[in-house]
Amino acid sequence: MEVNESQNINIVPSTEEPIKTEEQKTTESMLDEIIEKIKVTSRFMVVGINQSGKSNLMLHLMKAIRRRPEHKDNGIKMTAFDPTLNFRYKFDSIPYLDRTRIRDVPDSIQDLIVDIPFTTASLKRDCIMEVLLRDFGHKRTLKMQHNGVNPYYNFYIIDEMQNVFGSYALRSKEGETALTIFSESSNYAMVIMGISQRFNDVATGVIERCAYFLVGNLSGGNELSKFAKITGKKIANMTKSLKVGDFLFIDRSNLESVKQIHVPIFEQEGTPYPYEEQSMKWGVKERFVNYD
Ligand SMILES: Nc1ncnc2c1ncn2[C@@H]1O[C@H](COP(=O)(O)OP(=O)(O)OP(=O)(O)O)[C@@H](O)[C@H]1O
Ligand SMILES: [Mg+2]
Repeated sequence: MEVNESQNINIVPSTEEPIKTEEQKTTESMLDEIIEKIKVTSRFMVVGINQSGKSNLMLHLMKAIRRRPEHKDNGIKMTAFDPTLNFRYKFDSIPYLDRTRIRDVPDSIQDLIVDIPFTTASLKRDCIMEVLLRDFGHKRTLKMQHNGVNPYYNFYIIDEMQNVFGSYALRSKEGETALTIFSESSNYAMVIMGISQRFNDVATGVIERCAYFLVGNLSGGNELSKFAKITGKKIANMTKSLKVGDFLFIDRSNLESVKQIHVPIFEQEGTPYPYEEQSMKWGVKERFVNYD
């Protein structure tokens, strides 16, 4: 019997990995390297003007976190706080939880998008602080139980980080605690990855504690001069010509080796799906509602 081309094509197993171009492989290995470095120092920021591609870049970094070998052995947890409903439409297939509808953020989910689309910054801050504080306490206990070793890493992605780590937010009642968590995070394997449009919106004490930055296009004299204070004028000027998706990876301890990275538009694998509270809880509620 004659075998035509389409029959041949059908033989290719559908589970096969997509073929990656050399460029994709280079970008992936750069992202992997960045995550490896951030994991050790634990404090990191992505900064760039409005629409410079920060959230898109973060999607790539989130994927790189999940690509790590430790992730497969439950050695990494990832919680992404999203104030503007982006990740839940654009990331891969992990659960998302709408914090305006569900009160408790579960501790037991390995990767979770937490939507915090509240209209006030203080409500967004409270939701993030609640989880950071809970985990901080939990991880302190675990470290003691494991004789000073942290059994796993937590990565936190915090978009619009000024809601928690801005100068104004740090003056709030919980501001001191937020700064303590930021400062001591590496001792408990808590990796905080913040995103902001402006260095000027984030407290100086927080910026000073970051070892690495990914910086996209910056504009405005104030921003450039703030950034120039950290890295010098030469690097600050380099940001002026960056296009959407272009970022400089800056290691503050080695300002000579600034690397430029370009990421394409993120390609989703599946879509996030809603997290459901445990059926038992719902069962209890339903019985209560249907009392008579
Ligand atoms: N690498 C890229 N190449 C081409 N287009 C991109 C790239 N990254 C992002 N975009 C597009 O640019 C727009 C802004 O991207 P994104 O939301 O990531 O920017 P942002 O810096 O997070 O913006 P904001 O400051 O408003 O949060 C989107 O429409 C997105 O599709
Ligand atoms: Mg964004």
